[in-house]
Amino acid sequence: MMNAEFTQHAPRNTFPIGVFDSGVGGLSVLRAVRAQMPEESILYFGDQGHVPYGPRSMGQIQSFSEGITKFLLDHDSKLIVVACNTASAAALTYLRGRFPAVLFVGMEPAVKPAAEATKTGRVGVLATPATFQGALYASVVERFAAGVELFQHTCPGLVSQIEKGDLDSTVTRVILEDALFPMLENNIDTVVLGCTHYPFVIPLIEQIVGKNVRVIDPAPSVAKQVKRLLEAAGITNQAQGHASIRFFTSGDPSEMKSMLPVLLGESGEVESVTWKNDREII
Ligand code: DGL
Repeated sequence: MMNAEFTQHAPRNTFPIGVFDSGVGGLSVLRAVRAQMPEESILYFGDQGHVPYGPRSMGQIQSFSEGITKFLLDHDSKLIVVACNTASAAALTYLRGRFPAVLFVGMEPAVKPAAEATKTGRVGVLATPATFQGALYASVVERFAAGVELFQHTCPGLVSQIEKGDLDSTVTRVILEDALFPMLENNIDTVVLGCTHYPFVIPLIEQIVGKNVRVIDPAPSVAKQVKRLLEAAGITNQAQGHASIRFFTSGDPSEMKSMLPVLLGESGEVESVTWKNDREII
C-alpha cells in the first residue's frame, strides 16, 4: 500500500520519518526529534495491541518490529527510528539484515555518557528484562563501563503504569522507590533511563533521588543522530514550519489520543490499525 500523499513524484526529502515503540514510550523520542527538526513530518506507531514488549521473546519482538517497519515503509518513511530499547536490543540487527537499504536509528542505554559523568563511579540503569538480556546492552557495558559499578533494575509494572497515564500515583512511586532506594544506598550519582517510557516519570524520579543524582534521558542524542543521518543522505526537509504527525496504534485509538496532550503537549488524531496473524499490519 503506497501513500499517494508522498509517492506521486514528491521529492524524497519531503517524506516522513517513521518512529515506533511498543506503546507511548517512543513519544519521548518523537518529542526530541520534533524539537530539533520541526520541519520533518513524522509517522508514529505505538504497538499497544502487544505492549509490554519487555517480558516477550526476541522472536516475537523481531516479528512485530518487522511488520511495523514494513507498514512504515509502505507509508514512504525515509528513515525508521526504533524508539524502543527493548525492540532495539532484540531486533535492530535483525531489521538491518532484512532491510539493508533502509536507514535505521535505534536506542542504546546511555551507559557511555553516564560513565563519563559519574563522580562516585556508581551508576543505576533502569530498563526492561529483554533490554538487559540483549547483546546490545552487554556490548555497551563492555565498551564503556570500565571502572564503573552498574546497578540494574527492571521496574516491573512501570511501563503499564505509564501506558495508563499514571505518572505520579503511589503505585508508580513505589515501583520507582523499589528500584532506586537500593541504588541510593549504594551511593549512585547517575541514573540511566534505558526505556523510552521512563522519561515521562522524570519528575517523580527526581523527587526520589534528589538533586545530587543526574538522570540521563538519551532522546536528545537519538534525535541528533537522526539529524546527522538525514543530512548525510541529503534528505532533510528544507521546508519551514511545523510539519504534520500521523499517529497509529494497534490498540485503542481513544486511549492514545487522550495521552497525547499529557505526554507530548499537543493533540492529534490517532488511526487504528490491525495485525493479521501477528505478522502483517492490514
Ligand atoms: N518503551 C520500550 C523500551 O524502551 C518498551 C517497554 C515495553 O514495552 O516493555 O524498552
